[in-house]
Amino acid sequence: MSDASNDPRRARSRVTVDGPERAPHRSMYRATGLTDKDFGQPFVGVANLATEVTPCNFHLDQVAREVKAGIREAGGTPIEFPAITVSDAIAMGHQGMKGSLISREIIADSIEVVTFAEGFDALAAVGGCDKNLPGILMAAVRLNIPTVVLYGGTMMPGHFQGRDVSVEDVFEAVGAHAAGRMSSEDLDALERVACPGPGTCGGLFTANTMGILVETLGMAKLGTSAIPAVHPDRAQASRSIGAQVLDTLARGIRPRDVLTIKAFENGIRVAAALGGSTNSVLHLMAIAGEAGVPLTLEDFDRVSRETPHIGNLKPGGEYLMADLHRVGGVPLILRRLLDAGLLHEDALTITGRSLGEEIRAYPLKDEEEATRVVFPVEKPLHRDGALAILKGNLASEGAVLKITDPSGTVKFTGTARVFDGEEAAFEAISQGTIQSGDVVVIRYEGPQGGPGMREMLSVTAAIIGQGHVSDVAMVTDGRFSGATRGPMVGHVAPEAWVGGTIALIQDGDRITIDSAVRSIVVDLSEEELNRRKKAWRRPEPRYTQGALAKYQRLFASASLGARTTIWDK
Ligand code: FES
Repeated sequence: MSDASNDPRRARSRVTVDGPERAPHRSMYRATGLTDKDFGQPFVGVANLATEVTPCNFHLDQVAREVKAGIREAGGTPIEFPAITVSDAIAMGHQGMKGSLISREIIADSIEVVTFAEGFDALAAVGGCDKNLPGILMAAVRLNIPTVVLYGGTMMPGHFQGRDVSVEDVFEAVGAHAAGRMSSEDLDALERVACPGPGTCGGLFTANTMGILVETLGMAKLGTSAIPAVHPDRAQASRSIGAQVLDTLARGIRPRDVLTIKAFENGIRVAAALGGSTNSVLHLMAIAGEAGVPLTLEDFDRVSRETPHIGNLKPGGEYLMADLHRVGGVPLILRRLLDAGLLHEDALTITGRSLGEEIRAYPLKDEEEATRVVFPVEKPLHRDGALAILKGNLASEGAVLKITDPSGTVKFTGTARVFDGEEAAFEAISQGTIQSGDVVVIRYEGPQGGPGMREMLSVTAAIIGQGHVSDVAMVTDGRFSGATRGPMVGHVAPEAWVGGTIALIQDGDRITIDSAVRSIVVDLSEEELNRRKKAWRRPEPRYTQGALAKYQRLFASASLGARTTIWDK
């Protein structure tokens, strides 16, 4: 015990299990099966976000089992604990979606509180669905103990009428069915085949975007994120996390060593190069905020403008995450950008080596097939990245646009159709009252106003499903799903709940979105806006107790990542 008690890797767990005064603590642990040998090894908390509420995390017990076996093999003592998950797809389109962003905060708080209270020496965290990896990373930087993150992997594609499909196709099919463009039989048949097993939604939606980013940021082992949930490679990749987390602990590498401004700029670069989910803006801002890194929305726009769009992944492109694994996974994307001088290659990773060293050491696969999934930098889809930060009198703090149009730009002037909340907008779209040239404005859906900043996938998918691929725009203080496509602007800040301009818009106002000059403007004079502002009254809150009421008071602006902050306000 004397060697172990001097082991610097045990600096935290020693306090909980060493010495005669900790006999009660050891007694409790012995009841869980721990032995004298276990007490002398570093304690590694294994945050396992497994749940039956979504296929995204359905298989994570298996993944965590391998991670724990790897930790034992490497001389550590794994101690597993859970955190919650909300299924974004299943919460979509109803009030339940207001719980999704809240779940990010609860995941972060849960991991932080358990790890703090139990005194783990290091952390291995296994997550899947959209809010998992952001919540994990927020906890990791708060705790700042050696941490390795493992993404649980994507779902395999379904097959329908000769093509690969994912749940995005089912959401869009609802719109097509409502418009009479798809039969009930086909909708039923698609529903049964689109999601063939465990894993996250198959396209480059939020979960897969964050899976790619966690490798890019240097917080996950290179090559682990793109492996599909059910792929034979996953077990070995999961087991290897054990040795990695013990090595990261021995080297004393902490999340704040890794998550520097260079890491975040690399993350933005990759999100922009791939056309990743706009939620990545919100999540990177929140993680940076927790880490004390001075990241701004302007950084997203600057980096995106300097980044060629090379990802040919759905929803904007043709391929799914499982295809990316086949052609080389995240290292392929990083290699393309590294060779073009577009990454900070000296950014540190959890291995103690730089991102550049890690990428160069990773073997490349068949270049011919890879080129169809991730274009070469010199032959991009578009010259600029796919994320744009818009500002103007409609969003003085900023708004987020993802450019999925093949032209690589969005220029749209249309007539406002204003809805307070998603349900009212969805009903109008379902009844076919939205016309070409309309700008659907959905407000009181911001971080505080919702609360919880719902994703508008049901609305955007219904718009697309009715054939309005580029002739109807949407503007909201809520969010989009990563699966959203079309001229859609979200994260409008300041939000309606705090009296932002979006609260003042009326039916018939003219709104212009112009990605070339990064602007979003309503054609109203300052005098008229002031007049409307004087007459504006905040609606009564819908939730007056419980978690939704609590988070309504805690959420900061979307322009700050919608973190729960009381000190920034
Ligand atoms: Fe979990 Fe889509 S619902 S990744």
